[in-house]
Amino acid sequence: MWNGLCFEIEVVDISFRFGVQDDAPQLDRVQSLSIVGLCKSHYTNEEIRALTQHIKPYHTWIAQGMFSGFFVFLAENNGDIVGFSSISGKGILHGMYVLPEYSQRGIGSKLLSGVESTAKQRGTEYISVTASLNSQYFYEKHGYQYLGSASLPLRQGTTIKAISMQKILTCP
Ligand SMILES: CC(C)(COP(=O)(O)OP(=O)(O)OC[C@H]1O[C@@H](n2cnc3c(N)ncnc32)[C@H](O)[C@@H]1OP(=O)(O)O)[C@@H](O)C(=O)NCCC(=O)NCCS
Repeated sequence: MWNGLCFEIEVVDISFRFGVQDDAPQLDRVQSLSIVGLCKSHYTNEEIRALTQHIKPYHTWIAQGMFSGFFVFLAENNGDIVGFSSISGKGILHGMYVLPEYSQRGIGSKLLSGVESTAKQRGTEYISVTASLNSQYFYEKHGYQYLGSASLPLRQGTTIKAISMQKILTCP
């Protein structure tokens, strides 16, 4: 609905499920659009371009992870993927992306608690993430501790500033 100020997407019915290999093209699309739309507060256009060019296609992650406990948890609106999170069997959070037009509606929080509870059920003791600078508040709000600055290696020897965060999954 166009309200004169901004374009609002009507969130009809958000559902959550685990991802499968066939979801990979949509995951790649969500990842790129999310970085382009939501990381510009903390990164230059050049850094965003480098980041989107660097990212590994999701079918590669899914194929590699099939034997190591890697899984994707995703959100759909009327059959379209609007956000997802992914985590390795060792508790490394690889991806946490929501489409810009669906952000700030609690979808990221639900995705994060989905991967956390599944990881916990699988015996993971803590989750580590090399997070983008713009996501620090989001992770802190969900109990992640800032461990220090980090850098994400990109192609051709360049790096991008990031932060290292961790959450201990203690039993209540
Ligand atoms: C980080 C991200 C996944 C959050 O998803 P989301 O669906 O918007 O998150 P939620 O709606 O559940 O928000 C939870 C809280 O984080 C806050 N938040 C979310 N994005 C924020 C941002 N860019 N800046 C400041 N606060 C933010 C929300 O305001 C909310 O806090 P509140 O309840 O106090 O208002 C999303 O912004 C995103 O995809 N960012 C780009 C990709 C990225 O950087 N991912 C992290 C890579 S490690």
